[in-house]
Amino acid sequence: MSKLRLEGKVAIITGAASGIGEAAARLFAENGALVVIADIQDELGHQVVASIGPHKSCYRHCDVRDEKQIQETVDYALEKYGSLDILFSVEPDPGRANAGIIGPLGGILDLDMGEFDNTMAVNMSNNMRGAVIAIKHTGRAMVTRQIRGSIICNASVTGCVAGAGPHAYTISKHALVGLIRTASCEFGKHGIRVNCISPSPLVTPMADSANLSMSEMEALCSAASNLKGTVLRSHHVAETALFLASDESSFISGHNLTIDGGFTVINPILGFYK
Ligand SMILES: NC(=O)c1ccc[n+]([C@@H]2O[C@H](COP(=O)([O-])OP(=O)(O)OC[C@H]3O[C@@H](n4cnc5c(N)ncnc54)[C@H](O)[C@@H]3O)[C@@H](O)[C@H]2O)c1
Repeated sequence: MSKLRLEGKVAIITGAASGIGEAAARLFAENGALVVIADIQDELGHQVVASIGPHKSCYRHCDVRDEKQIQETVDYALEKYGSLDILFSVEPDPGRANAGIIGPLGGILDLDMGEFDNTMAVNMSNNMRGAVIAIKHTGRAMVTRQIRGSIICNASVTGCVAGAGPHAYTISKHALVGLIRTASCEFGKHGIRVNCISPSPLVTPMADSANLSMSEMEALCSAASNLKGTVLRSHHVAETALFLASDESSFISGHNLTIDGGFTVINPILGFYK
């Protein structure tokens, strides 16, 4: 029988009770990993464990805004499973985690600096800061134990191009790309890889935050997509994370892998190939 792609590896996935993180938790476990599902939605998190199987996964309450909780989650993984090879940091959506804050929608010329500061503070603490802390503690565990691990952050196409979201949101997603680049620089000497993945819009429970039904969200995603005939779903993002988590990507580090059907490299304004 051929070896599973993550056989014997231990993974922490933050934000794994729903959406992209949940899909990754299932796929990682199917591929032989032992998965710590870290989230703040305890009931959902336990349901995910029950459906994956408690011999392959466990749930840990972990609010990524709290450094102590992240450190405890890392310690828990090490104690329970004896190693820590993979971190998939699915940062919570800044808009969703804090009562719909996606930031002022207007342009810079009329920007209210109070609103901007508030949005940046929320986005940075929910989104960026959580990833920094998760990388810090996972990195420490890997370096100390000489584990040549893989760290993956979940960013967005709004971290690659402008015009796909409001200013503050775009700035915070760009910051994530900077984070994985600078972290990959430091961790290279330890053989630890750090990458991120950047999906275009997809249908997940996050659709709630935009007050859209799943089918409305799906229609919007399809209309915005260059690649027709396939609708981007959480499992596509999970498959990309699996590739970066596995030894198949063993020389890839500091990379931002888009999952966008060409969205970020195409400028349709001149209308060629319509
Ligand atoms: N869905 C999209 O269209 C899309 C596209 C590109 C990027 N993204 C990004 O992917 C990320 C996740 O999106 P999703 O669609 O899977 O969302 P989701 O809302 O389905 O999942 C996010 C998970 O994070 C958890 N969470 C929230 N606050 C937390 C905290 N403080 N600590 C720990 N966990 C917390 C939630 O409980 C939830 O389980 C977001 O950062 C989003 O910006 C989403």
